[in-house]
Amino acid sequence: MIDLTRRYQFSASHRLHSDLLSEEANRELYGKCNNPYGHGHNYEVEVTVSGPVDERTGRVVDIADLDELVRRQITGPFEHRNLNEEVPEFQRLVPTTENLSVIIDKRLREAWLTAFPENQPVLKRVRINETARNIFEI
Ligand code: NI
Repeated sequence: MIDLTRRYQFSASHRLHSDLLSEEANRELYGKCNNPYGHGHNYEVEVTVSGPVDERTGRVVDIADLDELVRRQITGPFEHRNLNEEVPEFQRLVPTTENLSVIIDKRLREAWLTAFPENQPVLKRVRINETARNIFEI
């Protein structure tokens, strides 16, 4: 089995604010990330797939198929968006990068079989670099 990781990027803005907490608790918890006007990140998403090497092609995945899936599910809908306002999942979910990891993984899995009907390769890992110092993995 071979693992292959491909890296994608998108830029988006967000505001960290939980409706389950008071205004004051939000300010205390999230600090400047709770600024009502939001702020942006250049998110780097690493998608790792795993599978056997195809005998005919010598490859583990058709990169073009993976690119198309990621464009359709992730970079297309997220690029230059305000995650809180423009991505339905974050109407009720705080767009922390923890939650973004969960949603990206979910979106990829939901459409995985349309790109890879035999579930070959499998989706092994999603890693998001939010900043040079904050890295998330699911
Ligand atoms: Ni942020």
